[in-house]
Amino acid sequence: MTTQAGKTHVGIGILAAAALVLTALAVPAAVRADAAAAAAGAALYKEKCIGCHAADGSGNAPMGKALKAGDLRKPEIQAKKDAELAASITNGKGKMPCRPRKA
Ligand code: HEC
Repeated sequence: MTTQAGKTHVGIGILAAAALVLTALAVPAAVRADAAAAAAGAALYKEKCIGCHAADGSGNAPMGKALKAGDLRKPEIQAKKDAELAASITNGKGKMPCRPRKA
């Protein structure tokens, strides 16, 4: 998994993790974070995440600032493993709401 694309934009890992979580794939661990997953994640990100994390992942959306969503482009976040990110997105973290899987 490369995070090279994540320098100026939301990282592919985050988009792919969102795709894994939100598309409720039967075996997410077996799904590779490829371009298709990133594209699916981008669409879902616009729908579900942009209100807090902003289009660029900076967290500068009104709700994101209020809840201190932070910057998803930070090295600490980009360095996290897909499974950790998926867990945060699936279970919620801090003030980030949980996103239950749609079966
Ligand atoms: C209601 C506002 C809100 C929405 C909507 C939201 N988030 Fe968050 N998100 C947060 C906040 C606040 C944090 C910081 C949580 C903390 O570290 O305490 C966060 C943290 C994160 C992190 C870092 C997790 C970690 O392990 O440090 C990721 C990745 C993330 N969000 C992805 C997403 C994705 C993908 C979506 C859409 C499916 C989403 N968020 C929707 C508020 C939100």
